[in-house]
Amino acid sequence: MTDQYTSDNDADDGYTADAAILGRDGVSDIDLICEAAAEYAGSSGDEHSVVDNAEAIFTWNYEKGERPRLERLYEKAKTSQWNAEIDLDWSIEVDPMTAFSIFSELGPERSSFTDGDSPIKNWGDKEWSEFSYESLSWRLSQFLHGEQGALLCTAKIVETVPWYDAKLYASTQVVDEARHVEVFAKYLDTKVGSSYPINPHLGLLLDDIISDSRWDMTYLGMQIMVEGLALAAFGFMRQMTEEPLLKELLRYVMSDEARHVAFGVLSLQEFYQDLNQAEIRERQEFTFEAAVRMRDRFLQQEVWERMGVPQKPMMERALNLPEEQKIFQQMLFSKIVPNCKKLGLLDAGDGWLRDRFTDIGVIQFEDYVDTADEFEDFSIENTEVPA
Ligand SMILES: [Fe+2]
Ligand SMILES: [Fe+2]
Repeated sequence: MTDQYTSDNDADDGYTADAAILGRDGVSDIDLICEAAAEYAGSSGDEHSVVDNAEAIFTWNYEKGERPRLERLYEKAKTSQWNAEIDLDWSIEVDPMTAFSIFSELGPERSSFTDGDSPIKNWGDKEWSEFSYESLSWRLSQFLHGEQGALLCTAKIVETVPWYDAKLYASTQVVDEARHVEVFAKYLDTKVGSSYPINPHLGLLLDDIISDSRWDMTYLGMQIMVEGLALAAFGFMRQMTEEPLLKELLRYVMSDEARHVAFGVLSLQEFYQDLNQAEIRERQEFTFEAAVRMRDRFLQQEVWERMGVPQKPMMERALNLPEEQKIFQQMLFSKIVPNCKKLGLLDAGDGWLRDRFTDIGVIQFEDYVDTADEFEDFSIENTEVPA
């Protein structure tokens, strides 16, 4: 994403100003990003509670086949289950110091973090190797916490979605997410040896999604935004690591995630057809808020803190990378943008979301493959898995 986005959206057009959407003015102001992070109440001890504000809905219509595409997804899910203990080779020895680096042909260059008056201009191999280790631990920890968010959100969907076929499908996703929590927790514990608490921006986003009373907002926040980003991020990590266990683990998880994003696209496509313009606008704003929170999360402020480096100048550098080094950050939106287009969110109303995605530098993905049918390509039996 680019840093050129400045808040020129005021309430004059009859819609919500950025300050109201995000709880802050100035989308790319580092001080405000850090303040927003400090707002996250975090956890007391081992728990964090959120009120989910929703009614559990029974349906007495047990007719199958009303939504054939959801039924096909449900059948696919039943035959695609795997066992984290058996199907992955946990005997593989992992060197977590070399398993992952953010510096690759897809990522930023080191010099963007070390030139000029950078606090880390004197870092040597030892510090960089520690940084790679901390980045791996931080990323996998955020994946882990996000997976738990998906577990809770999808359990909520089982209760709140009024459609029988969607309840059935969502139940399979609950099992999938349990397995994902299990594999990331096990990899962190037995192969990496350290972990991070949840990033406050991810925490704020998950709280927003879970506390919204409207069932379709759970889908939009989780299946479209968080899981859309996860599918892209897992694909990148798979490309950027040579570590065989992590590569295989991500492949298995991605085969499930592609179904989950398809579930969101197929369900919301139907539901959005009957919404009015004001209701669609609320969904567009929610999408934008989620996009900014996910961008903020990737500034990985906790890694700098753990390395003993001042956070703000390093976050500033991560936010202001030269355009050609932002490929990784931008590609995280390669699933989200086409899926939003497929749902009609990009161009609804006066194209508010298209303008926002243009401002933050991700609109170029609008014609990428959407994820409504892509789950077959990601299937675990498929040997030619897309990135
Ligand atoms: Fe997952
Ligand atoms: Fe998922």
